[in-house]
Amino acid sequence: MIKACLFDLDGVLVDTAKYHYLAWKRLAEELGFYFSVHDNERLKGISRMASLDILLEVGNVADKSAKEKLEMADKKNGWYLDYITKMTPEEILPGVQDFLHDLKSRGVKIALGSASKNAGIILDRVGIAPLFDVVVDGNKVANAKPDPEVFLLGARGLDIPPSGCVVFEDAAAGIEAAIRAGMRSVGVGSPDILQRATVVIPGFDGVQWPDLELKMSLSL
Ligand code: BG6
Ligand code: MG
Repeated sequence: MIKACLFDLDGVLVDTAKYHYLAWKRLAEELGFYFSVHDNERLKGISRMASLDILLEVGNVADKSAKEKLEMADKKNGWYLDYITKMTPEEILPGVQDFLHDLKSRGVKIALGSASKNAGIILDRVGIAPLFDVVVDGNKVANAKPDPEVFLLGARGLDIPPSGCVVFEDAAAGIEAAIRAGMRSVGVGSPDILQRATVVIPGFDGVQWPDLELKMSLSL
């Protein structure tokens, strides 16, 4: 019996990947190289500093000190904040609000498990913060996905064992984190990228919790 749903944020509840991309691309341009949408795929679900390392690798930039890297990550985050502080409820992905409200009405607990240190700002801006019983974000974890820490902390906060939790994720690293946490998972996106998920859905539009719950129990 599933008692709790743990949601990733970026790419699952809101499409913030485009804002991360615009801010990273701007940093790459300042450093003198082009950062493509294709390269950006590698940053999904990955922490801020790990994302910077990938960006610098793409641009063949090897001579930066730890202090310079922190300054670059701060600069990128400033540009990212310019975008996300202007977000509105219209940017919640289709079907998400209905799905969350339906879970609430059924007594299923809801938690956030995100690598982002900006998760609280985004939830407030798009107006869904009150729906979450527990929020675990990048400020609360020491180990990034695929480490299971973020989801285990969420389950602990809800007081539900991992076997009673299901994780919703758009990144392969997040599905791996769910598996390592001993939880079932719903991949949100393409089955090619999310093969290890218990079930994959293209998005939340028209998705009914009883159908999803049944599919997950059948695929155990
Ligand atoms: C994840 C995103 O949710 O958060 C990553 O998928 C991002 O792309 C990471 O790098 C960290 O986000 P932030 O907001 O702390 O820089
Ligand atoms: Mg994500």
